[in-house]
Amino acid sequence: MERFRVVGGTSLRGEVSVVGAKNSALKLMAGALLAEGRTRLTNVPAILDVTIMAELLRRLGCTVDYDADAGVVEIDVPDRIGHRADYELVRALRASICVLGPLVARCGRADVAVPGGDEIGSRGLDLHASGLETLGATVHVTHGYLIAEAPDGLHGGDIRLEFPSVGATENVLMAAVLATGKTRVTNAAREPEIVDIAAFLSKMGARIEGAGTSVIEVEGVSALTPVSHEVVPDRIAAGTWAFAAATTGGDLEVVGAVPGHLGIALDLLADAGSDITTTDRGFRVTASGRRSAFDVATLPYPGFPTDLQPFALVYNAVAQGSAMVTENLFEARFRTVQELARLGADARVDGHHVMLHGVERLSGAPVEASDIRSGAALVIAGLVADGTTTVSRAHHVDRGYAGFAEALRRLGADVTREPDEEPFI
Ligand code: UD1
Repeated sequence: MERFRVVGGTSLRGEVSVVGAKNSALKLMAGALLAEGRTRLTNVPAILDVTIMAELLRRLGCTVDYDADAGVVEIDVPDRIGHRADYELVRALRASICVLGPLVARCGRADVAVPGGDEIGSRGLDLHASGLETLGATVHVTHGYLIAEAPDGLHGGDIRLEFPSVGATENVLMAAVLATGKTRVTNAAREPEIVDIAAFLSKMGARIEGAGTSVIEVEGVSALTPVSHEVVPDRIAAGTWAFAAATTGGDLEVVGAVPGHLGIALDLLADAGSDITTTDRGFRVTASGRRSAFDVATLPYPGFPTDLQPFALVYNAVAQGSAMVTENLFEARFRTVQELARLGADARVDGHHVMLHGVERLSGAPVEASDIRSGAALVIAGLVADGTTTVSRAHHVDRGYAGFAEALRRLGADVTREPDEEPFI
């Protein structure tokens, strides 16, 4: 176990690069199952989750080469693949639920372990299940496995998602591409990662229209062919750096980012006093003086992303004025607040809202990461805290950000990793 050690007091300056989105790369890897042969993905982030997904695909019979330094994953999918994703891997990587759609489409059956609760609220699978049922699968849960069966293949259908779930949209999309006939998904998720998967599937020969809008239409085809594809840039990593610059009063160019994927987040930061410009290579955030607090509520894309909510908490904890941060997507995604309180933030949780009154500076203390984003946000909090902050459970952060401490050091921060103390009990 390791922790981050952060000595506060530096503004981040310089340039930082973002690579492909974790939340797209993992889904593209699952999507590779849809075509026999060799799929090549580039711009893949160097994170543990990719290693876990590679192992899952190997256990399904694929040969997977992952060159983390080069950011390349090559997946060789045989004619016949397995259809079972074990609990051991699914519990380590919740996103592995996205093999469900591809497996039932390719094999006529998928047995995927039910992930169980994780640390950011309950995340149902009902929309995944009912979507596949509309496509002709029977779905049930037995002995901890969600089993979807369609021995005679899937057929098109009219799927109306009650909520624009990212995961459910991906699963039904990846199932529908090989179904017979036409599928229409209404109230589909519109995230750039959905657009990326649709672009990948279309290159493979799928017929998809409307990805990026609320209505996606798919005309099923009988087979797909493997392709080479570059993963869409990680908008959450880019947003992390935007907030890091704004929170620390820094000046960062975020290279490789697509500013349009962060519309609302960048607008909010700009309205609150940061200077945001689009550059040839991405965007630049310049902040000086004390920035203003702002209210924000998380919503499905193009709304403010839930994955950036912890960074909005940290920003507002040291901003001028008061703010209300509202979480509308996941229930318990406020674990960051109790840790921020340890750093001297004036923050109070009320249902799915957090009320914050900005303080001039936080005060360094030991805190603990509860997930990827809270961990990264707490490291940024350490940068605006007096003295030293340690952020335990650094491995959470490694799941979303390759070389986070090194990147921060290049930008002038005093951030290192060290072994964590063994807990007393
Ligand atoms: C994905 C991302 C996650 C991001 C989220 C929202 C991955 C691995 N994770 O998560 O980082 O925060 O999108 O952008 O890509 N829901 C149901 N029933 C379902 C499915 C979802 O009730 O069948 C609910 C969930 O409980 C949650 C909400 O819908 O409240 C959002 O879930 P969803 O959009 O599916 O997010 P994930 O795909 O889990």
